[in-house]
Parts: sequence; C-alpha cells; structure tokens
Amino acid sequence: MKETINSYEDLLRMLDHLLKEESEFSWDNFYSDRERKVPFFENHPDENLVEYIEKKRLNAGKALELGCGPGRNAIYLSRNSFHVDVVDQSEEGLVWAEERAKEHRVQVNFIKSNIFDLEIEEGTYDLVYDSGCFHHIPPHRRMNYIDLVKRALKPGGNFALTCFVEGGELGGSDISDWEVYRGKSMKGGLGYTKEKLMDIFHEFNAVDIRTMRDNSPEDSLFGSSALLAALFKKDAME
Ligand SMILES: C[S@@+](CC[C@H](N)C(=O)[O-])C[C@H]1O[C@@H](n2cnc3c(N)ncnc32)[C@H](O)[C@@H]1O
Repeated sequence: MKETINSYEDLLRMLDHLLKEESEFSWDNFYSDRERKVPFFENHPDENLVEYIEKKRLNAGKALELGCGPGRNAIYLSRNSFHVDVVDQSEEGLVWAEERAKEHRVQVNFIKSNIFDLEIEEGTYDLVYDSGCFHHIPPHRRMNYIDLVKRALKPGGNFALTCFVEGGELGGSDISDWEVYRGKSMKGGLGYTKEKLMDIFHEFNAVDIRTMRDNSPEDSLFGSSALLAALFKKDAME
C-alpha cells in the first residue's frame, strides 16, 4: 500500500489502517457462531424504532440502514412498508440477514460495502437508520459519517441511531478522541452522552434523545438501558 500522504483521503486511510493493524477483531468471525448469547442476535427490532413507527414519527418511505448486521431492523422496516437498502461490510452478517429476509418473505436490497465507499445520489432517503454502527466509527471518520447521512437524506428526512452510553454495561469507552490514537484502539466501541450526540449532529434538528428501554427477550423487542436512542431531522429547506 502506498504510504504517502498527498490528500485528506490519504490521511484518513492511514488512520484507518493504523487502528486496524492493532486489532484482531473481525465482524465475520463475530457472526460465524449464531448460537452465542449476544443480545442483538435475536431477530427483534429496536424498541425505539417500533415506537417511532407506532407513534407516526416516521412514515413509510425509502430507508437506508447503515451496518445492518443480521438485519433485524431492516426486516421490521420492510414489514412496515419501507423500501429498504442495507449496507454492511461483513459478508457473514449479510448472509444471515438475507436468510432471515427470505424466511420472512420480505424484500430488502443488500449492499456489501464499507459505508464510506457508498455512492448515493443526494436526497434519496426518507430515513437513515443506524443501530450500533456509529459507535464503531473512529473519530477521524465522523465528519465523513455526518456528510454521508446528510447527503443520503431528503430535505426533512429522519436520521435515527442507537449507540453505547458512555461507560455502559454493554461497552462504550469514555476515552477522548485523542486517546483512541494514543492507544490505537476504540476499546470495543466509543460511548456517547446526549450532549455529545447533540454536538456531533448539531446540523440536524434533535427530535428525541433518550436512554433505550430495557426489554426482555419475551417482549419480541430489543432494548437496553446501556444504549442511547436518538432521532434527528434534516432541515426541510436543505
Ligand atoms: C454492533 S453491530 C450491529 C448490527 C445490527 N445493526 C444490529 O443492531 O443488529 C455493528 C455492525 O456495523 C458494521 N459496520 C461497522 N463499521 C462499518 C463500516 N465502516 N461499513 C460498513 N459496516 C460497518 C459491522 O460489520 C456490524 O455488522
């Protein structure tokens, strides 16, 4: 690989690479044993997503899910009349999601890609959804992430995410952005607070940011108070 920095993109790629070099973690390995007791392995949609739809904060339209993994939220959106595109870099995650979509006879468009390599026509989506991907995005890619969401959304479109609470039980390191690069690690995912999310996504209008509600598997919903759930809206005039 070329180790020269001639552009901003070269700089971002170097930082991606330096963080990856230190990590043994692979999402494909993570998904290879489906029997493990991982809370989000159950095919249950996020409780906040269900609430947004039931309370008509979100209306059916075109949705993009970032980091869909085994597809539980994509399947729920498709069942609720959304046209759903999903993207994930993990082959194993997508194979699992496709199997589930077939089993439930729902239509989902699967894209295997790094979210930062997506080519999206501006203003395509009514909803961008992210459950647990954003907290794995390294700080140097956050600006790309915000640009991606802004570009993907129609004016007035919605962006919703769930992410680790800072110092929460499921993960959510409370190290500074600089510390990520000193230690060459995100320590399993970065933790956020309501204030941090409002600051990072200040170009959007914050509709609702709260702690997710704990759910037991019998509820057929996924929820954990170790996660934050946030709903933002892009300006209708943009
Ligand atoms: C914690 S899992 C959540 C999976 C799914 N959203 C769920 O809640 O069931 C995070 C997912 O984000 C994906 N991911 C992380 N960074 C990504 C990137 N840069 N591009 C594409 N996918 C990414 C991983 O492959 C993984 O499947």
